Amino acid sequence: MKLSAEPQPDQQPNRWNDHVAVYEAVFEPLTNAFGRCALEKLDLKAGARLIDIGAGSGGVALMAARNGADVLAIDASHAMIARIRQRANSLQPPNRIRAEVMDGMALTLSDACFDAAVSVFGVILFPDAELGMREIARVLKPGGRAAVVTWTQIERYELASRLMAAIAAVRGPQPPPASMPAQLRFRDEPTFRNLFVQAGLTIDDIVVLQEKWRLPSAQWIADRIAFAPGMTAWVGALGADRAAILDAFVTAIERDYGCGEIALSAVAHTAIAQKPS
Ligand SMILES: C[S@@+](CC[C@H](N)C(=O)[O-])C[C@H]1O[C@@H](n2cnc3c(N)ncnc32)[C@H](O)[C@@H]1O
Repeated sequence: MKLSAEPQPDQQPNRWNDHVAVYEAVFEPLTNAFGRCALEKLDLKAGARLIDIGAGSGGVALMAARNGADVLAIDASHAMIARIRQRANSLQPPNRIRAEVMDGMALTLSDACFDAAVSVFGVILFPDAELGMREIARVLKPGGRAAVVTWTQIERYELASRLMAAIAAVRGPQPPPASMPAQLRFRDEPTFRNLFVQAGLTIDDIVVLQEKWRLPSAQWIADRIAFAPGMTAWVGALGADRAAILDAFVTAIERDYGCGEIALSAVAHTAIAQKPS
């Protein structure tokens, strides 16, 4: 499978501007679960300076600030940054998070000014993820640590596998997809590892974490399936079959899990790396 030459919908920050509320309501609870693990691994001291790269609606940045870190959240979507600023106002004290619109591949920040960096499904999405990782390395202080989360074991990402099964149920067996979502490029551990090595970071550990994505019901997620630009493009391309496919998706999940709350599996790698002193 190849990547398409054009930046994919999820790689276009302006498209994220239209997904802030639905992303926060639907997907952030899952990414927060991985983010919580990443923050635990960083084991930040109170007052530690942390940068969150591709911070989205700010779930992980808020968690870190509540735990006492001094956080800069950056994202290239201005609407995501506006939402983080709004959420940060409810924190006590409110000035623990600064949020800035910034391209993660060209940080307008000095060298060596952060104790730690976190990026949950952020840098691994960028068109030039290698450059994004070099930027992380540049802004870390010597001895500073980075926690980066990427997808792995994609066959166990149950939302996508169930949607593909629903497409096959309606349309019959399908050929494998012609191109791969950019955020799956680093799913194999050696490729993920290499991203850090090329940036001059030393990996301390890579952990695999399986999470259960808890959702009110199959119908609830089917109604909000366009929670990110890539998902919007995917379900948009289903055309006239869309309603039948989403019905098949809901029916199969309800058959397996019932009509109430569901828990879909998802698996990610979290790497903890260090900038040499
Ligand atoms: C999958 S979301 C992850 C959000 C958040 N880290 C989380 O865990 O929920 C990816 C985020 O990366 C941002 N993004 C995409 N390209 C970017 C870039 N070049 N620089 C900074 N942020 C970018 C998007 O705007 C989006 O908010």
